[in-house]
Amino acid sequence: MQLKRLGGDFALEAGGVDLARPLSDGAFREIEEAFFAGQVLVFRAQNLTARQFLEFARRFGPPEPHVVDQFHHPEYADILILSNVVRDGKPAGLADAGTYFHTDYSYLETPARATLLYSLQVPRAGGDTLFANQYAAYDDLPGAMKKRLEGLVGLHHYGNRDDLEETSRTAASLLTEEQKGRLHWVRHPVARRHPVTGRTALYAVSGSSFGIEGMPEGEARALLDELKRHATLGKYRYRLTYGAGDVVIWDNASLLHSATLTDPDDARTLWRITIKETRRQA
Ligand code: SIN
Repeated sequence: MQLKRLGGDFALEAGGVDLARPLSDGAFREIEEAFFAGQVLVFRAQNLTARQFLEFARRFGPPEPHVVDQFHHPEYADILILSNVVRDGKPAGLADAGTYFHTDYSYLETPARATLLYSLQVPRAGGDTLFANQYAAYDDLPGAMKKRLEGLVGLHHYGNRDDLEETSRTAASLLTEEQKGRLHWVRHPVARRHPVTGRTALYAVSGSSFGIEGMPEGEARALLDELKRHATLGKYRYRLTYGAGDVVIWDNASLLHSATLTDPDDARTLWRITIKETRRQA
């Protein structure tokens, strides 16, 4: 495997790997190391069946089907179909998923370790994913702010705290009443120790964080907004542009990410698998 740096201080591209072929434990260990080191790891121009994609994803941990179950892959519920294509008046997948900075499954008690996307249809323009490095964002905070964050616990719920208008393209994907009923408030540290690398990162300060335990609402919102502004600055970002067949895997515990709005008439389709954390925070 050859590794190439894509962004300034994170995001790697792995060459010389065919994910359709069985991976030895040694080869997988190398990939896993590159994943935790790079935070975003990209494999270009793969040719995978749904089953092969799922088998690769499972090497990272247990997949967790997305709450939006109407767009699960017909054979593999662990795969969520992201697509803006409409066939015979019916959406082929979930459109506009995650078009705001967020961390996957931060609205669940055991959040996501990794998310994988496999790009099937690439639009003529756009369709990129943005990533923001939350290790670097935390490291750069002034000492007084790091001290202030010590022990603070964020209160999370499904949604985008900056856009709750259900019909908006930048709100969280709409849930049915039954799906809403499956979700509850959960707690995560605002500055969170990564369960594998042990490094501290700002955690989901954009997206599902609506408050801070024990802090008046206005003060908590102001602090979260200040952290979000800092955490999504251009200097922490990397923009991934897809080619057909590209597979990307990213580390949710050390990143925020955001889809970008694409012309609804310019077809974009990806398969997505989300892997849950298996180790609780140290
Ligand atoms: C996501 O946030 O899961 C989707 C990212 C994308 O479609 O670019």
